[in-house]
Amino acid sequence: MSKLFYIEASPRKERAYSIKVAQQFLNTYKETNPSHTIESFDLWQTSLPEFDGATINAKYRILHGETHTDAEATAWNSVEELFNQFDSADKFVFSLPMWNFGVPYKLKHYIDIITQPGLSFSFTPEDGYSGLVTGKPAAVIYARGGEYSSSEAAAGMDFQKRYLEMWLGFIGFTDITPILVEPTLSDPSDAEKTLNQALEQAAAVACKF
Ligand SMILES: Cc1cc2nc3c(=O)[nH]c(=O)nc-3n(C[C@H](O)[C@H](O)[C@H](O)COP(=O)(O)O)c2cc1C
Repeated sequence: MSKLFYIEASPRKERAYSIKVAQQFLNTYKETNPSHTIESFDLWQTSLPEFDGATINAKYRILHGETHTDAEATAWNSVEELFNQFDSADKFVFSLPMWNFGVPYKLKHYIDIITQPGLSFSFTPEDGYSGLVTGKPAAVIYARGGEYSSSEAAAGMDFQKRYLEMWLGFIGFTDITPILVEPTLSDPSDAEKTLNQALEQAAAVACKF
């Protein structure tokens, strides 16, 4: 049985464009795959552990082949728990707003925690970095107030989609489907049109996901 992991990064809930589109995606997916499990992870309802000195030391100890102190081992346990939850899924859906040209800090916090040597990536001097989360598809719903896909100059300011895709690629994803909801901060009829297009795309992608 397949498990889909849905990560939600907007705190705006019923007002959020990214979440409306994600709900459409998940509803269609459920209808198409009634026996599959969907686990939702709301970054605004989760208290993530601090990504602090002990955690960073724990990370470098692994890279240098050293043993953890007790404090580092405790910090690392939390990291492993969150990574194992992530890695237990077969498919991934992310929904996220653009904030200041990038991703919301809660999502960055989560990424910092689960992007770890020996878990989501490996490093050897001979081969360099390799992603370890392989063979799993991801659909990513990006909501943004402006329009960033309209020109090269605008795309250059988009550190939301570019960053998320680069990170997913770094940890091993190769099958990544973007769903854009843009521009959401336009006049209401345009925003509605934007939303409807994204809802249609979400349903079409979810049917075959
Ligand atoms: C803190 C914050 C920063 C934002 N920064 C940007 C930005 O850099 N570029 C942009 O186009 N829209 C920006 N917006 C607008 C959001 O991207 C837009 O409202 C989008 O619909 C949010 O997604 P949501 O509706 O799923 O919450 C920002 C909104 C907030 C709250």
